[in-house]
Amino acid sequence: MSDRFPLDLTVNGQRYQVEVPVYHTLLDFLRDDLGLTGTKECCVVGECGACTVIVDGRTVNSCLMLAVEADGCEVITVEGLAVDGKPNALQRAFLEHGSAQCGFCIPGQLMSAQALLMENPHPKAEDVHEALAGNLCRCAGYEQITEAVLAAAEEVAP
Ligand code: FES
Repeated sequence: MSDRFPLDLTVNGQRYQVEVPVYHTLLDFLRDDLGLTGTKECCVVGECGACTVIVDGRTVNSCLMLAVEADGCEVITVEGLAVDGKPNALQRAFLEHGSAQCGFCIPGQLMSAQALLMENPHPKAEDVHEALAGNLCRCAGYEQITEAVLAAAEEVAP
């Protein structure tokens, strides 16, 4: 019996109909099969948030989700945030506020922040802290990250 399963999903607006090994995580699929290496591989046990992506509007640690569990889902990775090839408001705000130090955690931070703004366009600092609580930054740039998310919210809020 084959260990490959059919997978039909959308990633960053593009539909993929493929077969994947049943034991491959969504993180494996995104990085190894699609080459979307913006999603980072770090702890692979759901502790650090570096692998965060958005699946059907909610953040997911892609190291903990099997690729086949994303069947029929809409996935957004950090590569999907750009608008017409340019950084979106959130990405610009991270740049302007010096939110990235070593940068490794930033894709995951961005995805958690993006999911927050999709759900709550007018977050307060406490909302940002809560939404990004699962994203660890070893450089401890948390203040700049919070400032950036609040600034982006102000820029894009309806
Ligand atoms: Fe997935 Fe750390 S790599 S949570």
